[in-house]
Amino acid sequence: MSSVRICPSILNADRSNLSAEIDRISEVSDLLHLDVMDNIFVPNFTFAFEEAISIIKQSSLPVDSHLMIADPDLHAPRYAEHGSTSVTFHLEATTNARTLISNIKGNGSRVGVAIKPGTPFSSVEPFMAEIDMLLVMTVEPGFGGQKFMQDMMPKVKAARTWISENNAKDLWLQVDGGISLATIEEATLSGADTFVAGSAVFSSPNPAQMVRDIRIASEKCQGSSAS
Ligand code: DX5
Ligand code: ZN
Repeated sequence: MSSVRICPSILNADRSNLSAEIDRISEVSDLLHLDVMDNIFVPNFTFAFEEAISIIKQSSLPVDSHLMIADPDLHAPRYAEHGSTSVTFHLEATTNARTLISNIKGNGSRVGVAIKPGTPFSSVEPFMAEIDMLLVMTVEPGFGGQKFMQDMMPKVKAARTWISENNAKDLWLQVDGGISLATIEEATLSGADTFVAGSAVFSSPNPAQMVRDIRIASEKCQGSSAS
């Protein structure tokens, strides 16, 4: 069993043929990362609710929904109800993180909390003991294909230190944005164990091989990651 999780993002995959795109990477990936954007929380729109739910229902992989939406308090629990394996909302968008965490969990999904580049680890720390995944954004949310923000690594390290000190072995630490063969080592060495990769995977001529290569590169430096 792999010690890391690779979650390809279909944001920049061929939208006209999504199920074929998913099939290309399903055997080698852990979760399918589904970026839901509402053109309010971020300046981009991806899927309407019904469309996202239909992808969740049809996906051959468990789905990791990343909700970049303005009203997660209302909508995020519905992704859990409809079978998304993991549901991640943005801390910046909720009015009551604690209630939302419990509403998502109550519907049987893993719960993730995402923080944008400008949000410090200290803002999410009070919720760490209640969540299944922390997503540290390594780009401003909204678009695929952006440059990895190296200056987010101290935040990833702070989260990894918290996880180690609190023995929170089941809490996944995800990074999203600009992950590729060029950045996977640094993200792993900083302590991330769950990786979203969009353009690196789907702009590759062989997406499945790229997922394998990213996994191998991460596993190679897992042993020496920050603790
Ligand atoms: C950005 C999204 C990402 C995006 C990643 O807001 O949350 O998941 O698809 O794409 P790449 O890997 O191209 O940065
Ligand atoms: Zn994402």
